[in-house]
Amino acid sequence: MLRIGVNGYGTIGKRVADAVAEMPDMELVGVSKSRPNHTADAARRRGYAVYAPEERHDDFEAASIPAAGVVEDLIADSEIVVDATPAGMGAQYRPVYAEHDTPAIFQGGESAEVAETSFTAPANYEEAIGQQYVRIVSCNTTGLNRTFAPLIEAYGIERADVTLVRCRGDHAVIKPDPTTLPSHHGPDALEVLPEIGEIQTMGMKVPTIRHHVHSLTVTLNDSPDAAAVRDLLSEQSRIHVIPEQLGIESGWDLQEYALDRGRDRMNLYENQIWGESITTNDEHLSLFQSIHRESDVVPENVDAIRAIAGTADAAESIERTNEALGIDTV
Ligand SMILES: NC(=O)c1ccc[n+]([C@@H]2O[C@H](COP(=O)([O-])OP(=O)(O)OC[C@H]3O[C@@H](n4cnc5c(N)ncnc54)[C@H](OP(=O)(O)O)[C@@H]3O)[C@@H](O)[C@H]2O)c1
Repeated sequence: MLRIGVNGYGTIGKRVADAVAEMPDMELVGVSKSRPNHTADAARRRGYAVYAPEERHDDFEAASIPAAGVVEDLIADSEIVVDATPAGMGAQYRPVYAEHDTPAIFQGGESAEVAETSFTAPANYEEAIGQQYVRIVSCNTTGLNRTFAPLIEAYGIERADVTLVRCRGDHAVIKPDPTTLPSHHGPDALEVLPEIGEIQTMGMKVPTIRHHVHSLTVTLNDSPDAAAVRDLLSEQSRIHVIPEQLGIESGWDLQEYALDRGRDRMNLYENQIWGESITTNDEHLSLFQSIHRESDVVPENVDAIRAIAGTADAAESIERTNEALGIDTV
């Protein structure tokens, strides 16, 4: 059993903790919170040991949610730590992980330099085997890499042009974000898949929640027909090609779909590609896909654990993770 700590129990950390707890080959040592609020209370009720930063430890006692220890105890007791602290804080924790010789997995809010490898399991699992520090790229970049990887293998990619419409706008406005090009997603995708060649990514933010939408145009080295591309993408376990007859038109419908399917925390781990959008014109392929920002990186974190530990190859790990999380059954 791999003993895993999750440092940071927010949007990503709580989902990774749940996933680790579901894995037959892993044991969740505990999670960390900086505030003894309702999320800490709920974690305790789920049976998770909650650790606190040293300077906050007594606040937990005072709030009747006694901490199991300080974050350094969690790090010391874990074989591998998944760092899901706020963006930029992972780099501050890195020396603490190093002090305890505890390998760590960082998230997309950290810069690429924080780790030896930026990671998306179906794209470059092998590069993370035995590494001390691995970074899961952002939710959007993970979604892009999952679509690019099989296209590269089947046809080769000459270049990709992507517009990312991202949820999380602050006010009721639509805005380019950032206004300069490219957004971080293109360079990040190249960290994992240099075979993409050239990529331009343009980001926007809109005032909605949970689901991002990508408009992709990929120039391939081949000219497959749309049906062949659709078959190829449908075969990928972390891609769901939405059949037109399901009538899924928006992120709202996807959210309802996740709930109706009984997915905890509305998780939709798979890229959601609108089947009827898959269109080819000679070597140009275009499609729309949606990404659930809160959960698509979760299976990647689980696979990165096995890659670091060297306990499974890519195919074995992806299959184990998928089976435990119910992926491929949507
Ligand atoms: N949110 C997304 O959709 C998303 C998607 C993909 C990747 N990411 C990346 O994932 C990472 C985490 O993002 P998030 O959205 O999950 O953040 P979040 O919801 O703000 O959660 C951060 C967690 O870290 C805890 N924390 C704060 N200070 C801490 C400290 N000193 N020591 C230990 N834990 C501490 C927080 O505890 P308190 O709540 O008690 O303060 C909270 O549980 C970031 O790199 C982000 O860019 C986020």
